[in-house]
Amino acid sequence: MSMWKQAIEDAVQKTRANIEKYGDLFPHVSNDGKYLLNDNDDWTDGFWSGILWLCYEYSGDPVFKQAAEKTVASFRKRMDGKVAIDHHDIGFLYSLSSKAQWIIERDEAAKQLTLEAADWLMTRWREKGQYIQAWGPTGDPQNGGRIIIDCMMNLPLLYWAYEQTGNEKYRDVAVIHADKSRRFLVRGDDSSYHTFYFDPETGESIRGGTHQGYQDGSTWTRGQAWGVYGFALSYHYTKNPLYLETSKRMARYFLERLPEDDVVYWDFNVPVNDKTERDSSASAITAAGLIELLSHLSADDPDRAFLEDGLQRSLKGLVNGYATIGKPDAEGFLEHGSYHVRGNNAPDDYMIWGDYYYLEALVRLEKGIKGYWYER
Ligand code: GLY
Repeated sequence: MSMWKQAIEDAVQKTRANIEKYGDLFPHVSNDGKYLLNDNDDWTDGFWSGILWLCYEYSGDPVFKQAAEKTVASFRKRMDGKVAIDHHDIGFLYSLSSKAQWIIERDEAAKQLTLEAADWLMTRWREKGQYIQAWGPTGDPQNGGRIIIDCMMNLPLLYWAYEQTGNEKYRDVAVIHADKSRRFLVRGDDSSYHTFYFDPETGESIRGGTHQGYQDGSTWTRGQAWGVYGFALSYHYTKNPLYLETSKRMARYFLERLPEDDVVYWDFNVPVNDKTERDSSASAITAAGLIELLSHLSADDPDRAFLEDGLQRSLKGLVNGYATIGKPDAEGFLEHGSYHVRGNNAPDDYMIWGDYYYLEALVRLEKGIKGYWYER
């Protein structure tokens, strides 16, 4: 059995056990090897849904389909009740739940729910400033003028809504936001700010900053990972070569800084000693993003060999050093992810998005099953 197949089989087995354990709740992050469970009210809840859909596509076992459909019903309720959806992470939530169901089953109700989600994401668009506001209400003194790099992974919902409806407003907003992210979040040396502030009245740029990184001018590794994958997806939808170039350059920055075991620390600028936390989820996102990026490069692209080597190193590093393969009672797939190290919020354990991207990368390599960021 190949190394990838063994890792997938292990993850599928764990998911089977977790369905029983979690019931109607959603896993989020952990501190002590047990996922914290919540109702469907956090930004992370789509990842559990996505894991269930990937397990279903990989195995064909209806137990995963039933569990995944149940999560979509929960996302329907969440939309109806407008429960904790006043932020930009609608793309993460609904791409991996209802959009996945649409892609796999061509379920019309799931498609309609996903379009509603896209409309809801559009309410985060700030006309005066010309950006999608990440967090908080309009006019919020802290966050009213703030964008974050993670949003690059929410844009596919808008591009997809344009494809489905022909309404250009979705694509136009996504493109303006992607251009702004490229210009202000990605720095001249291909590193990235986690967040950037604008004047909400005029759209004038103010400064870069961070929320979860080490410091304002540092490069939070997960932010860099969101950029690698997010710009590759913007390229998929628009074919704008600048997005492909940006994804490539951000990937090179990431891969040139891999530590000995090929799994990154939580920030590229944090002083490293034997206690410094890793973020295995950043390496998992980058691995999945590299597969997407490579799918757009020609066979003789000068960067192909370097990126392919980086993909192999990242995924092997995760499977060999961080995966819970051979620990049948473990809930998560990947140890040593970090949510918010400086905030001491789940600084070193399982992260449900790390598990999702790890499995997405593995099943795409092993069986050609893609994630749910665009139509197949
Ligand atoms: N998108 C939030 C995070 O990566 O922690």
